[in-house]
Amino acid sequence: MARIIAGIASSHVPAIGAAIDNGRTQEPYWQRVFSGFERSKEWMAKANPDVVIGIYNDHASAFSVEIIPTFALGCAAEFPPADEGWGPRPVPVVKGHPELASHIAQSVILDEFDLTIVNKMEVDHGLTVPLNLVFGSPKEWPCRVIPLAVNVVQYPPPTGHRCFMLGKAIRKAVESFPEDLRVVVFGTGGMSHQISGPRAGLINSKFDKAFLDNLTRNPKKLTRMPHLEYMREAGAEGIEMVMWLVMRGAIDDTAQEVYRFYTVPASNTAVGHIILENRQRGAAKRRAAGQPRRKAATKARRAAARAKTAARRSQ
Ligand SMILES: [Fe+2]
Repeated sequence: MARIIAGIASSHVPAIGAAIDNGRTQEPYWQRVFSGFERSKEWMAKANPDVVIGIYNDHASAFSVEIIPTFALGCAAEFPPADEGWGPRPVPVVKGHPELASHIAQSVILDEFDLTIVNKMEVDHGLTVPLNLVFGSPKEWPCRVIPLAVNVVQYPPPTGHRCFMLGKAIRKAVESFPEDLRVVVFGTGGMSHQISGPRAGLINSKFDKAFLDNLTRNPKKLTRMPHLEYMREAGAEGIEMVMWLVMRGAIDDTAQEVYRFYTVPASNTAVGHIILENRQRGAAKRRAAGQPRRKAATKARRAAARAKTAARRSQ
């Protein structure tokens, strides 16, 4: 059975992608940002997921402004990087998982979430920057990635509650997929940013940090937050944070925060990042610790006891 082992949230600032692509990660300004993801890369290498479900938003790259689906699930085998105005980013093609994606589409749509099924799509910085932040810049991404694009670019975006409930439906779908896959869900976007108008460059660290606290401990409170509060407190583009609630809905209520990073500014936004792990249960925990399965361990213990008794009798 497939299972979700963790959720990760991260900003997807395009300037981070440009810093990587132009070899500027060691400059002091960018070093401050990238150093915060070193532990995440180690965590990710250890977690070694089979599949990432990447919740992100398309920035008029795949869908233009003519068609804007609220939730669009990528069911293709491949998703090339989009040309965002200066050529496609020099990152690997994202390899999808059409079987799991189609299974999620079926389960979630029959659970009354009307996803748009996308069989051909290019993906922009919204997805590829978070992949860089936790996987670095490999020749191939080390796991399959299922993109799920959420509309946060044209009013009305989905509510936080709707996003959270979609996460729960995704979890149900993943856990009914028969293959033994380890899945990590990414929520991307945010944190506070306003890219135009008189408030351009707005940063509200107090709001962002409270959001991170609540994401771990009290996500239900966030599901009740109206769009206007996101935009008033975190800037117009701060609304991207509703996507983090899809991730939060897909993991345990009691998920454990294992890492957090926050820095300002990057470009003119705040960068936030968090890793929430599901508590491992039973067999999965023993396997991760390199211990034998319970049945095998019990069998071995019983065999040893029988041998001991037989040895005693023969003396
Ligand atoms: Fe964005």
